Parts: sequence; C-alpha cells; structure tokens
Amino acid sequence: QTDVAGDIADILLTEEQIGAKLDELAAQIDRDYEGKDLLLVGVLKGAVMVMADLSRRLHTKAEMDWMAVSSYGSGTKSSGVVRILKDLDTDLTGRNVLIVEDIIDSGLTLSWLVANLRSRGPASVEIAAALRKPEAAKVDVEVKYVGFEIPNEFVVGYGLDYAERYRNLPFVATLAPHVYS
Ligand code: PRP
Ligand code: MN
Ligand code: MG
Repeated sequence: QTDVAGDIADILLTEEQIGAKLDELAAQIDRDYEGKDLLLVGVLKGAVMVMADLSRRLHTKAEMDWMAVSSYGSGTKSSGVVRILKDLDTDLTGRNVLIVEDIIDSGLTLSWLVANLRSRGPASVEIAAALRKPEAAKVDVEVKYVGFEIPNEFVVGYGLDYAERYRNLPFVATLAPHVYS
C-alpha cells in the first residue's frame, strides 16, 4: 500500500488550523522586526514546511538560510550532543536571526543551536516553532513564537517524519499502530 491515508490514526491539527496560526505568528513577527532586517534559519529537514508557509506570510524583508544538524548517539532520540551536517552560508555578525523549527521535543537540539548561533556575534537570536511538547522538555528553551502545544505523543506530518516518511502530509497526525509493527 502506497497511499498514506490508511496509516493515519488521528489528525491533531488540520491544514486550516495550522494556516490560521501561522497568520497570527507572521503578524507578530512583522510587528517585532519592524525596521529590522531578518535572517530566517531553517533546521533541516523538519522545518521545510513551516519555513515555506511562515516566510510567505511575512511582509518583513527576510533572507533564508538553512542548517542541518544531527544528534550523536543511537536511535531517534536527541542526546544533546549535536553535530553540524550543513552549516549556514551566512555570516551572523550583527544579524537578527530567527530560527524556524517544526517541533521542540526535549529541547536539546534547539538549546544547543541557540548557544552555537549566539556565539557568532548576531544582534539577536529568537525561535519560531510550529509545535512544542511541554511534557517532553528536558531543558528549558525560550521560544518567542510557538504555534501549538501538543501532548507527548509521536506525531508526523507537516515536516515531521517517522523513518523519513510522512513529512509531506499537510496536517499533523498520529500513526495507526500497524505502521510500527
Ligand atoms: C526533530 C525535529 C527537531 C528535533 C526536536 O528533528 O525536527 O529538529 O527533532 O527534538 P528535540 O527537541 O528532542 O531535540 P530530527 O533530528 O528528527 O531531524 P529531521 O528534522 O531531519 O527529521
Ligand atoms: Mn528537525
Ligand atoms: Mg526526524
């Protein structure tokens, strides 16, 4: 079976709900960065969808750059030790950086990334994340723009993958049990 519909259990957030929330976040970002130039930093691969949808709602002049990072260690859980697979092309000196992420789970990836980017001499570093799982937090990360707080369940879609699949779903959903077996 190649159609993903049969793999979905529950839809947590619809495309419409996500879009409406991004309208709000974009308006807030436009207000906060008025008169400033903005560098959006997307964290590959999960942030591709939210980067595309959020950036298209902004009126602020923005550049986009990308980083790819990977946690050391086994499995899919963040260890907090992060390796840069693809670094930014952009010099951050004096820049207003907004990191764009799909989800904050343990917070380990972002807490490392914020510290790393802050050490490069930017004017500011803030975070915009589509989703956050408060119950999964292992470290506190200050996130200025959050779309939705969701329960601590495994979700896919809107950039989020299970074994690299389901990123292309336009909504956020849980998977049917048969997918895991
Ligand atoms: C996922 C997600 C976040 C990170 C959150 O990325 O996209 O980047 O994990 O986890 P944390 O808060 O526990 O650190 P992943 O490492 O799976 O890479 P991907 O974006 O390529 O799927
Ligand atoms: Mn990611
Ligand atoms: Mg992943």
